[in-house]
Amino acid sequence: MTDTILFTVDGAVATITLNRPDKLNAATPEMAKAIVEAVTECNDSDTIRCVIVTGAGPKAFCAGSDIAELDSYATPWDFRNRSDYCDAIHRLLKPTIAAVNGYALGGGLETALSCDIRLASSHARFAAPEIKLGWIGGGGMAAMLAHSIGLSNAALMIMSGDLIDAQRALQWGLVSEVVEPEALMDRARELAATIASRAPIAAETAKLNLRAAVSMPLDKAMEYERDLQAICFATDDAKEGRAAFAEKRPPQFRRR
Ligand code: COA
Repeated sequence: MTDTILFTVDGAVATITLNRPDKLNAATPEMAKAIVEAVTECNDSDTIRCVIVTGAGPKAFCAGSDIAELDSYATPWDFRNRSDYCDAIHRLLKPTIAAVNGYALGGGLETALSCDIRLASSHARFAAPEIKLGWIGGGGMAAMLAHSIGLSNAALMIMSGDLIDAQRALQWGLVSEVVEPEALMDRARELAATIASRAPIAAETAKLNLRAAVSMPLDKAMEYERDLQAICFATDDAKEGRAAFAEKRPPQFRRR
């Protein structure tokens, strides 16, 4: 693994920190590969229960793809099939929190949108600036933004490319909470610890279910949810949850 990201695991919580602060954590192909590796490690782990994604330094979460590196692909088809960092974060199976500590632009915004929950520092800024450069986002920008903030707000961001601040992001529902910069990681770790303490299979299933809820027709989503509920209900952890409730003690979940 390279130093373009930092990957740490503290108990049940993993943290992926994009680590090119002098370039506002703009993502290179090398960083994308490192993110893919970190995501694989999180997905394969039986003990990692929640993942935090953040950026190094005080200024940026991620300013998107490294613009200079976008010419490094031999063909447009290679560019289209690149190993993409936003896709990798999207493929995380564990509940994921974006701790947006500054600029989240382009692919950086898509990376944040690929996380389940977004927390922002008060100086965070968000934009889909690709239109200023001559292209559009390619990591799910339109679909994820539209689901997150509605079509008109998504169009405003994508068609203007302009920045919105953390308060507007909160007002539009792009982020769940805004906190002071120095409190951001503590709040992210606190929330991650809470999620990590919940029944892990149920938490991972909740993630699948939420994805299905926004992409399936209502009747199919309701059927799928019932199937997922039955799967959760059949786990040892669900038995433990019921036993712990009856015995008035905290549950001991084992991801089984
Ligand atoms: N790709 C490559 N380098 C980037 C970058 C990106 N997406 N975003 C920022 N950087 C680099 C800058 O080139 C600069 O490098 P330098 O010090 O070697 O010149 C460094 O990061 C700091 O950025 P700078 O522009 O000096 O900071 P700023 O505070 O004046 O402006 C931004 C911040 C975010 C408004 C500005 O950097 C910007 O518009 N970046 C491009 C964002 C973008 O279009 N992303 C989508 C890419 S598809």
